[in-house]
Amino acid sequence: MNNAVTGFSKLSKEEKINWIANEYFSTPTEAIALLKNYWNSDKKTQQLHDEFIENTITNFYIPLGIAPNFLINGQYSTIPMAIEESSVVAAASKTAKFWSTRGGFKATVINTEKIGQVHFIYNGDVSKLNLFFAQTKAVFFTETESITKNMQKRGGGILDIVLNDKTDLLPNYFQLHATFETKDSMGANFINSCLEQFAKTLKEEASTYELFSEKEKDIHVVMSILSNYVPNCLVRAEVSCPIEELTEKHIQHPKEFAEKFVQAVQIAEVEPYRAVTHNKGIMNGIDAVVLATGNDFRAVEAGIHAYASRNGKYSSLSHAKIENGIFTFWLEIPLALGTIGGLTTLHPLVKFSLEMLKKPSAKELMQIVAVAGLAQNFAALRSLTTTGIQEGHMKMHLNNIINQFEATDKERVLIRKHFKHHAVSHNAVVDFIENLRK
Ligand code: MEV
Repeated sequence: MNNAVTGFSKLSKEEKINWIANEYFSTPTEAIALLKNYWNSDKKTQQLHDEFIENTITNFYIPLGIAPNFLINGQYSTIPMAIEESSVVAAASKTAKFWSTRGGFKATVINTEKIGQVHFIYNGDVSKLNLFFAQTKAVFFTETESITKNMQKRGGGILDIVLNDKTDLLPNYFQLHATFETKDSMGANFINSCLEQFAKTLKEEASTYELFSEKEKDIHVVMSILSNYVPNCLVRAEVSCPIEELTEKHIQHPKEFAEKFVQAVQIAEVEPYRAVTHNKGIMNGIDAVVLATGNDFRAVEAGIHAYASRNGKYSSLSHAKIENGIFTFWLEIPLALGTIGGLTTLHPLVKFSLEMLKKPSAKELMQIVAVAGLAQNFAALRSLTTTGIQEGHMKMHLNNIINQFEATDKERVLIRKHFKHHAVSHNAVVDFIENLRK
């Protein structure tokens, strides 16, 4: 049994590490050495990372890869991807190259509206509440002026506030539903600050509203928070070309390929089990770029999957069609991203990634991220409907198996040479290594 610890957050980093090593590890000195091995040798850089969160003991590496040759709306980009899955960056690069000679990717931002809500309980006459809101709506804007001033200078701010009656879902439940434009920032802090002020204004104004009874004056605010579901913060990415141009090494019969590809997408449109895996492949591309550019991938994940269920059944985020001999493949996803504020000005590798992307606006980053998702989905479906996924996947995974067995340099050369012409499977590699070592 391990012991509980009190005042842990007050301990120094060294003390925390010593405690954890002694409490949980059979060889504490080795555990400590491992943690320290991952510290950055530059003290300032390490301190920066230490202070992102509480109780930092070391850094957790994930590779940052790059996928070049993405032709998006006529401009080339090299896309940064932070991801641990072996085949993702290779698939992105391959797909980027493929579409760069077929017109590239087209991406458009459809809308950029963000959402936040004040959830509250009102016990009284609904028509009086409606009248109260109509008469005090302007106050919600004036009371938040100090918060919105800078955002307004950048062309953003509060777009609208509406009162929603939700009593059909929960007794006495109402909400202020506000929409925002946050320009190049993701806007979480801005939105939440506005909402908390709305909540204060709501309570104050209600408490002195003459038409309300004492009970009606006593509005209970349950919480004020942005929504990560942003169905009106939408971006579309698309590729298309005449069917015959799809020809390449693995696509000898482009018409057959295009038809099978469309069928694969249709299956994901109607079958939730497949849709989840299909969309997971899309998220391989999206999360990797979102993470590399310092954005909140949990928010993006939550919002996108909710969007995939918007019609009451979980479905594919992407779609494909063949019309008049033209193959078109596209997706439409909600993405609330920022290119200023938050980690974007703090994390050195995030700054690097954004500079590599030529310091994009939030709208440009939405397009890049959507394209990365579409590219990843194209790569997965191309493999699935032709060679199968394992061929490419296992080729990329070979390095992981080699590392697991701590192969020597000489062994690595022999293993790679052999598996250039043989199917890679975990057992096949293990057998080969064992034979080599006999
Ligand atoms: C693996 O990370 C992603 C895939 O399963 C996606 C798909 O099946 O479309 C290959």
